[in-house]
Amino acid sequence: MNYDSTRSAPAKGTVRTLSQSELPLLRDHLLRLDRTSRYDRFHGFMDDGFIKRYAEKCASDGTVIIAYFENGTVRGAAELHPPEQSPDGEPEIAFSVERAARRKGVGSILFRKLIAEAQARGYRSLRITTGAQNEAMRTLASKFGAKLTFRHGESTGSIDLARHGQPEPVPAAVAPLEAARAIANLNRAYWQMVFKMYGWGRAA
Ligand SMILES: CC(C)(COP(=O)(O)OP(=O)(O)OC[C@H]1O[C@@H](n2cnc3c(N)ncnc32)[C@H](O)[C@@H]1OP(=O)(O)O)[C@@H](O)C(=O)NCCC(=O)NCCS
Repeated sequence: MNYDSTRSAPAKGTVRTLSQSELPLLRDHLLRLDRTSRYDRFHGFMDDGFIKRYAEKCASDGTVIIAYFENGTVRGAAELHPPEQSPDGEPEIAFSVERAARRKGVGSILFRKLIAEAQARGYRSLRITTGAQNEAMRTLASKFGAKLTFRHGESTGSIDLARHGQPEPVPAAVAPLEAARAIANLNRAYWQMVFKMYGWGRAA
């Protein structure tokens, strides 16, 4: 059965921020993602070793994880990466919901909580990136005001938190020059992280 093709009954689990000692729960959640979801979430990286190192890095670099629980198990997560990890100081965000829990509003709940958390920390904007073919994430991000632009197989965009008293559907827009800059920065941050995780030395 394809669980995420249509809207299902609303999710009934709970959402809260993970403490640092709970971060192995993030790892276990990410390891449960199927291959396609891993591909979508990690821009093509799919092996267990990568995911374990990624989760360890989140536990040590100040990433905030907002988790969706069902019966004590994390089935969805929103990641708020600290601005220091980004070359231009714009915090990056990412989402993952296990397939059986999709189309029940979990991604939307996590997005809303993440925006509140980012506002409480005084952040002004957030950056999100996803595959250009990732319709679910593109639609979700656009609902929360992300202005996504497309290039080289990726969609990237910023969310202006000043506009977020009330999240409202905002149509995606295209701004080529800003997009090129954002993508360059994004790719730098992403590959920097990957290089560090694999111990391949310093990225630009
Ligand atoms: C993207 C993702 C987080 C969405 O999670 P979710 O819990 O299903 O999201 P929601 O139920 O809150 O859906 C919100 C909206 O997104 C859109 N959407 C979600 N899944 C969709 C799909 N498969 N196709 C089209 N639109 C979709 C819909 O507009 C939906 O609202 P609706 O159900 O009222 O129509 C989930 O699909 C996922 O984890 N994918 C794999 C990992 C990934 O791609 N991460 C992105 C990289 S940052």
